[in-house]
Amino acid sequence: MKLIIIGWVLLLVLGQAAAAAATDRESEAKPSLAYGAKIYQARCVLCHGREGYGDGMLPMSLKNYPDTNLHEPKFGKALDELRLSVIYGGSLGTMSAEMPPWGDELTYTQVESVTLFTKLLIDEPKKAIAMVDKTQAGTRPTERVGRAIFKNYCSLCHGDNGEGDGKMAKIIKNPPPFNLTLSRAPDQYLMQIISKGGAGMGRSPRMPPWGEQFSETEIKSIILFLKTLRR
Ligand code: HEC
Ligand code: HEC
Repeated sequence: MKLIIIGWVLLLVLGQAAAAAATDRESEAKPSLAYGAKIYQARCVLCHGREGYGDGMLPMSLKNYPDTNLHEPKFGKALDELRLSVIYGGSLGTMSAEMPPWGDELTYTQVESVTLFTKLLIDEPKKAIAMVDKTQAGTRPTERVGRAIFKNYCSLCHGDNGEGDGKMAKIIKNPPPFNLTLSRAPDQYLMQIISKGGAGMGRSPRMPPWGEQFSETEIKSIILFLKTLRR
């Protein structure tokens, strides 16, 4: 059971990387806090939590996971230290190997941006979160965004066309990932099961909760897309 959780969590991490690659295409030329906020959302929330308090989905679902609360005094707070941690992660030898090194994967601009944002998150969490909310406010749900999220985060289990035949379907049975082409659940129900996960709705806990990871607008986008899959 534990291995299965670790397995899908690892795949989720890989999925995250793919999601972030999509954001990379709109990459900006100069480091900025706003760009950093986007990268943090895509790459770091899973382990560090939306506000950096260590309540990401991964530490919450695995026992004995190292503390990922960035507000802990034991973690570096200076910009230079943060930058090194982001670039080298566990390979620095000063922290758990569970912290991935991002230097190979992120461009210079991305490393700088996410480092700036992480610093703001530590120094002024309210301000940082307000910034994230602002980048998301005013945006309307679109099928296009829903499709991109689905591809990166959901198809792993539900399959590219939502038929319940993703890679993870081989190991997730009883019940298997839902065949979403047959789903007739109303929007309100979809909103809830996507936010709270199966466990929150008295269904299989293998359907993860996404409420922390995605904004309300993003979940509405996912729902728009899910309805295009229906037959
Ligand atoms: C797969 C999980 C995971 C992801 C994803 C992740 N981290 Fe971490 N990170 C950790 C863990 C675990 C630690 C704690 C290491 C320890 O306690 O030794 C950590 C520690 C840190 C530290 C503190 C290091 C120190 O000693 O000062 C910083 C800063 C940090 N992460 C930033 C980030 C940023 C920025 C991102 C996104 C680009 C990110 N992390 C993504 C797991 C993760
Ligand atoms: C780790 C595998 C996994 C991932 C990843 C996953 N799901 Fe699921 N999902 C499931 C399983 C298993 C069920 C069946 C739960 C049950 O029937 O008790 C399910 C059920 C659902 C349902 C219920 C459909 C209905 O009509 O009742 C919806 C909607 C759904 N998932 C959407 C999503 C979305 C959107 C994502 C991505 C953001 C996602 N899932 C990611 C495994 C997964």
